[in-house]
Amino acid sequence: MKRLGGTARVIHPLAAIAVVALVFLQVYLIAEAIFGQPGALNDHKTVGGLVVVVELLVLATALLGWLRDRVQVGLSAALAVVGVLQVSFAQNLGNSPAVHALHGLLALVVVLLAAQIAARKRGVFLRPLAAARG
Ligand code: HEM
Repeated sequence: MKRLGGTARVIHPLAAIAVVALVFLQVYLIAEAIFGQPGALNDHKTVGGLVVVVELLVLATALLGWLRDRVQVGLSAALAVVGVLQVSFAQNLGNSPAVHALHGLLALVVVLLAAQIAARKRGVFLRPLAAARG
């Protein structure tokens, strides 16, 4: 159980960084689709499904590795909720362009939350480096 917690603590910020990188990729893919690249929208939809899985991984690893850090768990829960809502606005939620546009807007909230989650736990990587330097 202790080992699982340790693994979760390392995977957690890595997963959050992956969310940030994937949102950048999503913006690129949707822009590529707007500029007429065939297949780019499909790629955007496929990558979008993966983003939600990684967002849920961020929450799962927060619960397993950082349960005592209520702020970290809260931010991770917010990322999961906003992430699922964000994807739902693309098609399932709402019936007007003004509401569907929340899909694009909330992508900014997703990237800010994920960046904050990763930044709060950057010590996971920095501490071993500092110790190695002595
Ligand atoms: C966190 C970043 C993003 C994720 C995870 C994401 C994910 C997705 C997913 C999963 C779909 C397919 C939805 C479905 O078929 O039910 C989709 C469609 C779409 N997304 Fe995104 N997206 C992101 C960012 C953006 C941004 C920034 C824009 C534009 C500013 C955008 C515009 C669109 C459009 C136009 C569609 C097509 C909707 C349709 O088929 O009617 N997305 N996205």
